[in-house]
Amino acid sequence: DGASSLDLSTLTRQTGFTGLDYGFVNTASTRSAITYIDGGQGILRYRGYPIEELAEHSTFLEVAWLLIYGELPTADQLGEFDEKIRRHTLLHEDLKRFFSALPHTAHPMAVLSSAVAALSTYYEDSSDPHDPDHVELTTVRLLAKLPVIAAYAHKKSIGQAFLYPDNSLDFVSNFLRLNFGNMAEPYVVDPTLAKALDRLLILHEDHEQNASTSTVRLVGSTGANLYSSISAGIQALSGPLHGGANEAVLQMLAKIRDSGEGVGRFVERVKRKEDGVKLMGFGHRVYKNYDPRAKIVKQSADAVLEALGVNDPLLDIAKELEQFALEDEYFKERRLYPNVDFYTGVIYKAMGFPTRMFTVLFAIGRLPGWIAHWREMNLDPQTKIGRPQQLYTGEPERHYPR
Ligand code: ACO
Repeated sequence: DGASSLDLSTLTRQTGFTGLDYGFVNTASTRSAITYIDGGQGILRYRGYPIEELAEHSTFLEVAWLLIYGELPTADQLGEFDEKIRRHTLLHEDLKRFFSALPHTAHPMAVLSSAVAALSTYYEDSSDPHDPDHVELTTVRLLAKLPVIAAYAHKKSIGQAFLYPDNSLDFVSNFLRLNFGNMAEPYVVDPTLAKALDRLLILHEDHEQNASTSTVRLVGSTGANLYSSISAGIQALSGPLHGGANEAVLQMLAKIRDSGEGVGRFVERVKRKEDGVKLMGFGHRVYKNYDPRAKIVKQSADAVLEALGVNDPLLDIAKELEQFALEDEYFKERRLYPNVDFYTGVIYKAMGFPTRMFTVLFAIGRLPGWIAHWREMNLDPQTKIGRPQQLYTGEPERHYPR
């Protein structure tokens, strides 16, 4: 479309040309109208709206609507959407028993992905997964049920009973209660905590063709249903180079604290690439400037910890580490800056979530983006099954010895 892009599929058809592009650094797999990123300038917009404005003024569900339907909802549309999501929070009782078949040591991301795959066994029978009404219902079901599944994965890991959702509560408050409430006493939602979590979820809602979204699109391009595609996206998100980085950051900060090694020496080891050690939460394929989401998270980290009455030395280590890295030639040359995962873990920890739940929170945040991309792909007449090429490097033809 622009002077800097080339339709490679036409070129391939006409000339047989195959480009080699490890990690898809160059190749666009689709056109998309959902999210705009300028990595050099550190700009992120959902449907044209700057992330800073949405984080300041909007809510998770409003942004979900924006991503999925393309415009901000009217008050009536948002109210109806919210209401529908509240009505679909219950899980089938049999699905609740599914959790007891899994070990309590299971990683919550594995539980989340398995349970979402299992959801399709309840809802994808004879209906066409691409029928518009069915897609609407699946959208609502996923948004309503993923937080409940996530909270049950948490409860299972700590051996506590699952609570039924309380649909008088808003999306985030309901989720907090399901995680931190118990059968014995009423749970009072802390509005500071709810607001802070809602904002973090907004920051994660979409990020164009990242690894998990591309996975959702690739799986969906085969005609697979939305549950299967999202389940695969959750697995892709779990890796430490992607969403799993928020968990890895906290482990790294705790290691620096416990080893007494000091931030300076740790950074030296990173620069020497000793044992492949990386500064987790730093660097990004697209951002060669400060990740705008990280800027917002960093700004709110102090405020949230103070409001929650938490004083965490890991936040001080994180800040010292960032300062060290930003002044160092190694990081400057490679244009490595904190990404969204660098400070989120410290906040999630202050909220009371165990480290293994951090990437699950990311998945809840990213769900609207995944859904929006799956739907956009299925409405695009140019969509084809995703099928990368390869350059074969193996043996030439040879014959089986007789
Ligand atoms: N710490 C130290 N060095 C790094 C880091 C890091 N976090 N990230 C990149 N580098 C170095 C690489 O070693 C490489 O150095 P070299 O030129 O000497 O070989 C150079 O910077 C370029 O890095 P690439 O690996 O080519 O960058 P790529 O775009 O492929 O990777 C990635 C991006 C995966 C995010 C990488 O920066 C990384 O591993 N970061 C840590 C994990 C992380 O925080 N992931 C979350 C990403 S955000 C998200 O998914 C939500």
